[in-house]
Amino acid sequence: MNRNAYIVGTGHHVPERKLTNADLEKIVDTTDEWIVTRTGIRERRICDEQTANSDISSEAARNAMKAAGWKPEDVQMIILGTVTPDYTFPSTAALVADRLGLGHIPAYDFEAGCSGFIYGLIQAKAFIESGLLDRVLVIGADMLTKITNWDDRTTCVLFGDGAGAVAISSEGPGGRLGGFHWGSNGSVGEHLIQPGGGSRNPASAETIEQNLHTIQMDGSRIFKHAVRAMRDACLKALEMDGTPKSEVDLLISHQANLRIIDATARALELQPEQVFINIQKYGNTSAASIPIALDEAVREGTIQKPNTVVLAAFGAGLTWAGIILHWEEGTEGK
Ligand code: ACO
Repeated sequence: MNRNAYIVGTGHHVPERKLTNADLEKIVDTTDEWIVTRTGIRERRICDEQTANSDISSEAARNAMKAAGWKPEDVQMIILGTVTPDYTFPSTAALVADRLGLGHIPAYDFEAGCSGFIYGLIQAKAFIESGLLDRVLVIGADMLTKITNWDDRTTCVLFGDGAGAVAISSEGPGGRLGGFHWGSNGSVGEHLIQPGGGSRNPASAETIEQNLHTIQMDGSRIFKHAVRAMRDACLKALEMDGTPKSEVDLLISHQANLRIIDATARALELQPEQVFINIQKYGNTSAASIPIALDEAVREGTIQKPNTVVLAAFGAGLTWAGIILHWEEGTEGK
């Protein structure tokens, strides 16, 4: 018998503190008008100095488990996509498993930039459909404001902090994980990079002096790759799923830039009401942006049953990924 993987619970957590475009006007040479017209962002959430990734990831995971009706002993594995873990090691996933009392289950982090959450969904789908596991927690969480250069107006206006999580089960009802597409291109990886702190440029007084521990991005180059990668991720995932564009009900895209989301929606020939957007509230939260948006879409009732939903992302690597979700008739929004 064919096994399927279903999203049976969603959750997210963002810090309380807001940083508005007006606040940023006081820090760098920018304007609310420039940020809104070029990106769609109006404000973003930002953590305090004491808060780390595992703190917000634990909250998001707890919310997803609650929505799924899962107890700690139900979770068989936890995986977490991030570029801003608590530490290089131990993994943030292992810290979250401990915090939530999940026992000694497999737990690991992986890194695919803003595509991290969809990369996680594809891994969970493989584990579940192969019969290896029945219940997996997938988290996408980032705190890019911790690695932001606050003197660089071309990047510091873009990012926010947050975490999102989903509970994935071999038993529905829920959002069935369908066709997908994922890929990478390391030959252009240096256009979006945190150069310091790894084995190429280990942390030293010089790397700090040269600001190598912050995000460095060639925005317009990434923009062009992003538009193409997002379109391909959607169309190839639909092709694998055997679903025509005309059957798509909703696009939940990585929230990096409103203009990239619009271009992706045009490629799918969608109407504005078929595109979920929350970038104005959170900015680019990297691996967290899709699970935060998905949780809001589920809880606000934007996702109806039956609905075919396309998720699509691109990010550092460069990476890209798309996956089709089928929210089936008779299932309750969780
Ligand atoms: N305020 C005012 N002016 C600014 C700002 C700012 N915050 N930032 C840049 N400018 C200026 C530039 O200096 C430039 O001025 P010039 O023409 O005098 O040289 C002008 O605005 C235009 O700059 P561009 O970089 O060409 O602006 P663009 O329209 O490309 O928008 C942006 C920049 C928003 C960064 C866009 O390129 C983008 O969204 N790129 C994709 C970013 C992204 O999604 N990254 C991937 C995910 S992140 C991750 O994976 C961790």
